[in-house]
Amino acid sequence: MSPSLVILGAGYTARFVLAHAGLRYTHVLATSRDPASRLSHIPSHQRMRFDLKQSETWKTIPSDADLLWCFPATPLHQVQQLVQAHDLRSHRVVILGSTSAYMEGHSLEYPPPWIDETALIAEEQARVEGEEFLRTACGATVLRVAGIYGPGRNPLDWIRKGRVGPSRKYVNLIHAEDLAEICLTALERGLPGEVYNVSDGTPHTWTEICRRAQDHWGIQSPTRSDANGPAGKRIANGKLLALLRSGHRQLRYPDLWSALDQLAGPTR
Ligand SMILES: NC(=O)c1ccc[n+]([C@@H]2O[C@H](COP(=O)([O-])OP(=O)(O)OC[C@H]3O[C@@H](n4cnc5c(N)ncnc54)[C@H](OP(=O)(O)O)[C@@H]3O)[C@@H](O)[C@H]2O)c1
Repeated sequence: MSPSLVILGAGYTARFVLAHAGLRYTHVLATSRDPASRLSHIPSHQRMRFDLKQSETWKTIPSDADLLWCFPATPLHQVQQLVQAHDLRSHRVVILGSTSAYMEGHSLEYPPPWIDETALIAEEQARVEGEEFLRTACGATVLRVAGIYGPGRNPLDWIRKGRVGPSRKYVNLIHAEDLAEICLTALERGLPGEVYNVSDGTPHTWTEICRRAQDHWGIQSPTRSDANGPAGKRIANGKLLALLRSGHRQLRYPDLWSALDQLAGPTR
């Protein structure tokens, strides 16, 4: 591991990574396209301007730093130019992808089959193209991340606001605190060029989650129940758990229900 970490695209996940990265790295830098306004909560010596679309901002990346890439790697030609200009092959790179990379498949099975890292991906998706380029050309480790939740991104609010409602669709989630730990573990121990699914390992249907929200907190979605919609996916996380175990770590929030209890705070 390098003594320096640069978090490219310091948004929601980066907040949690920043809270822990100092224990493993001597220098941690966070980037934004507009650091003065978007990263005002971070000490100024840790902020950096970086915009994939503006090559003049690329040279600020220290040549020996590990990189945690936290935004979609698009467009491909700019990712390729950055790799060439900055010799990203010499860096340890971990990139956050998405489980949306996996094709839905045509299975009529319900619940839907489990998806591990060998499943087909939609290579024509722009972000998948960028990730696959970084993985194969630079040995980047790709994390295919499920829905991220945590403080300020509370599924109970999504239900309350009608962004989601009861349906048979399976959703896979990962708590931001766990994701942060996983990013740091992947930088330290993840194999270059490998892919790891990142989820808590227990997919739930939105019907189950909405029922829980109703029974425990009296929260009801304004959205009507959808019994015949898409089945969603069930993301397997065995490879991730093995990676965490190899570093004597484990998920802090494997159970959505207790994580939601904590996010909701005291009920009465
Ligand atoms: N949210 C989810 O549930 C979810 C699920 C699966 C995967 N993911 C993926 O996981 C990653 C991290 O998610 P997140 O929610 O932490 O993301 P986020 O809050 O959107 O943070 C990423 C940051 O990257 C910066 N950025 C965007 N485009 C950029 C560009 N062209 N050049 C340089 N910087 C750029 C933006 O910051 P500035 O505007 O300050 O530059 C943005 O805030 C993302 O790739 C996301 O797509 C998210």
